[in-house]
Amino acid sequence: MQRTFSIIKPDAVQRNLQGQILADIQAAGLKIVAMKMIRMTRAQAEGFYAVHKERPFFASLTEYMSSAPVVCSVLEGENAIARYRELMGATNPANAAPGTLRQKYAENLEANAVHGSDAPETAAFEISYFFNAFEIVG
Ligand code: CDP
Ligand code: MG
Repeated sequence: MQRTFSIIKPDAVQRNLQGQILADIQAAGLKIVAMKMIRMTRAQAEGFYAVHKERPFFASLTEYMSSAPVVCSVLEGENAIARYRELMGATNPANAAPGTLRQKYAENLEANAVHGSDAPETAAFEISYFFNAFEIVG
């Protein structure tokens, strides 16, 4: 069993797609073991994306991620990190495979509907950034 961290990003929440995206996640066999809707502060978004702080898109990305509410969740399942990355599709929705969340729901490269952890270390950091042990109830 493995856990990964998911965010339904502002563009998707603003278009009321969170229900459909969560249904797709569940249909893919990933179990939701924690969930909350929040609006990130700019500082919180900067801390979350700290690995990207030298990248040219960092300022725009953190402004966008703190611009409106998001839905954060912890997903559990066998090989959950890779399975959720596959369900999400490529970062740029123009390259995302048919049937993936980003192909179905993303607006553009930045506003690409969902986030998912990319490795066990990032999953552990990202889960603990938003949830404490009592909030994970799977
Ligand atoms: O989210 P993912 O792990 O697929 O991609 P990333 O390379 O970790 O980038 C994090 C996020 O930054 C992406 O999901 C996009 O929202 C944004 N991004 C961007 O705006 N422009 C880029 N050239 C690359 C990423
Ligand atoms: Mg990433």
